[in-house]
Amino acid sequence: MSRLHVLEYPDSRLRLSSRKVTRFDDDLAELIDNMIETLAATQGIALSAPQIDDRRAVLVVDLSGDGSAPQAYVNPEILSKTAWGLVEESCLSLPGVVGNVLRATEVRVRAQDRKGDVFERELMGMEAVCLQHEMDHLVGKLFVDRLSLFQRLRFRALLGRRARRRAA
Ligand code: NI
Repeated sequence: MSRLHVLEYPDSRLRLSSRKVTRFDDDLAELIDNMIETLAATQGIALSAPQIDDRRAVLVVDLSGDGSAPQAYVNPEILSKTAWGLVEESCLSLPGVVGNVLRATEVRVRAQDRKGDVFERELMGMEAVCLQHEMDHLVGKLFVDRLSLFQRLRFRALLGRRARRRAA
């Protein structure tokens, strides 16, 4: 296994859409294992393949905080969303940025595992939110795209301050 480089905003590759996985082979298993290792190494709770510059529709979620409970979702699709609320989010591709996003806190998802077997699962709370956040990555969307106008202005101001600091 190896730890992969996580792309950071505003890298344009984060805006590319993923392709459905059709080959459930060793290469896919390696991708998933590397994503799990990368997630544990960065102490994140979720990671999508586009963030490590891979176009396959794969994401991993691990809320344990110590890398002990990774869940991989291949070709995920959401079947239902309920219990909407504002949730504070952050992203490994946007270090230091947090914002409140409207998300369903209960979802039903259908996906495939690394062998291609289909499963369905009910997710609640943070796990449901992570799944939606990572599924956004699969279509080139970032959580900052979902912020209110006020929060987007604050985000732009933060980027401006960082750019000026780099230039100074
Ligand atoms: Ni993210």
